[in-house]
Amino acid sequence: TLRLGAFVHRRLIAPGALAASLMLAIPASAADYSPGAPGIGDPYYPAYGNGGYDVSHYDLRLKYQPESDKLEGTATLLATTTQDLSRFNLDFLLDVSEVRVNGAKASLTTSGEHELEITPKTPLPKGTAVTVVVRYSGVPSSKKAYGFTSWHRTPDGGVGANEPEAAWWWFPSNDHPLDKATYDVSVAVPDGTQAISNGTLQSATSRLGWTRYNWRSNKPQATYLATLAVGRFDVTTGTSESGIPIVNAYSKDLGDNYGAARASIERTGEIADWLTEYFGPYPFNALGGYVPNTTTGYALETQTRPFYSPRQFANGTNVSVVVHELAHQWYGDYVSVAGWKDIWVNEGFARYAQWLWSEHEGEGTAQEIADYVYASHPADDAFWTVKPGDPGPENQFHIAVYDRGALALQALRNEIGDEAFFAILKGWPKQYAHGNATVGDFLKYAEKVSGQPLAALFDTWLYQASKPSAPAARDASI
Ligand code: ARG
Ligand code: ZN
Repeated sequence: TLRLGAFVHRRLIAPGALAASLMLAIPASAADYSPGAPGIGDPYYPAYGNGGYDVSHYDLRLKYQPESDKLEGTATLLATTTQDLSRFNLDFLLDVSEVRVNGAKASLTTSGEHELEITPKTPLPKGTAVTVVVRYSGVPSSKKAYGFTSWHRTPDGGVGANEPEAAWWWFPSNDHPLDKATYDVSVAVPDGTQAISNGTLQSATSRLGWTRYNWRSNKPQATYLATLAVGRFDVTTGTSESGIPIVNAYSKDLGDNYGAARASIERTGEIADWLTEYFGPYPFNALGGYVPNTTTGYALETQTRPFYSPRQFANGTNVSVVVHELAHQWYGDYVSVAGWKDIWVNEGFARYAQWLWSEHEGEGTAQEIADYVYASHPADDAFWTVKPGDPGPENQFHIAVYDRGALALQALRNEIGDEAFFAILKGWPKQYAHGNATVGDFLKYAEKVSGQPLAALFDTWLYQASKPSAPAARDASI
């Protein structure tokens, strides 16, 4: 029976009912334990995340020296095994000096672009609580994977913020949105410098010339939504009308962009409250935004406290980008993609929120913008070849995912009417609260709420590599 068990285990025969009952009869032996997969199974990014365990909490106790860009410290991960595990991977790029699993020193090796392979002293049975302690140090900006870095040096420090990959440069993780966890991020920086992260600032105390900032993000958070910025910031605090505490941070060196950045981001509480009318209650207990002195072009919906680039404010206030990143707190952060091909459920909705804001501001209705987008891209424009419902990793953040994505929502709105449409916008976040969902899940949910078949409409607007023959207007639908 032991040999048969091994065969079943290696899937040389189909695991039918008989085989399964035989497996149960076999006592666990080392042969039944296997390494966790080096990827979580995302078809766009097969190496991202890992198999065999699930992290519930990250505790990061770090120290960062802005002059040298040196980051060092200890990460303690609380996890549970999801299979009999002989070995498992973390995704990480910095230099690891020691790993302990449940207190015992583990052996480690690196592989691939960003894999840290950890072999615990004793194999870990399925369903076990595991504590992993990783001691590490390194210069994040010097580390590259696939030829790039997501850690951006600034004149006064550095910042880690990118999508889909950001964690590898500053903490070891199961780097995929499917494995959300809570975070305590504690970072010591030289006095006079600030460390900014997600959630609430529990304390900031100075000793021996270093100030330690303790941040807590106590709701499930995807790894790419965890952020760290160190620099010289002006920090403002407040409370939204609905009672959410706000902490914003602006690099002192934003130059001419400083005023516009601050004039935009100081409206965070107002915007978050406005969005609750469309998306339901704000899902977290902290709010804010931060602008490091970086040349990076994008903004990012880092949980509770989005990252903004000074470039977003080069022409003056840009409240629209604040609307976009705050909309992601519901669409992206509270409900996260199940795989990276579901990116439309993030970007299409954050873009549509900008259209709703435009309407609110009297700068064009969502329908007018939809008509404009439709008309301004001729049929032979490459814009129409990118399918928002499955853009491919190379086009994950193509403008079409955003604009075609929001057009699809306007088409949906015209098909099912405002009442059902806005019920869906508000109901969806609660439906998948703190979890993950796919484009297919959204289609099913929209059909359920509206009581209408919508597969054909989704196909036309999300899955065709060509311009739909009629604009997303009420009179053109059906
Ligand atoms: N989700 C971000 C946004 O809302 C986009 C990040 C794009 N990332 C990138 N590396 N280009 O704008
Ligand atoms: Zn976005």
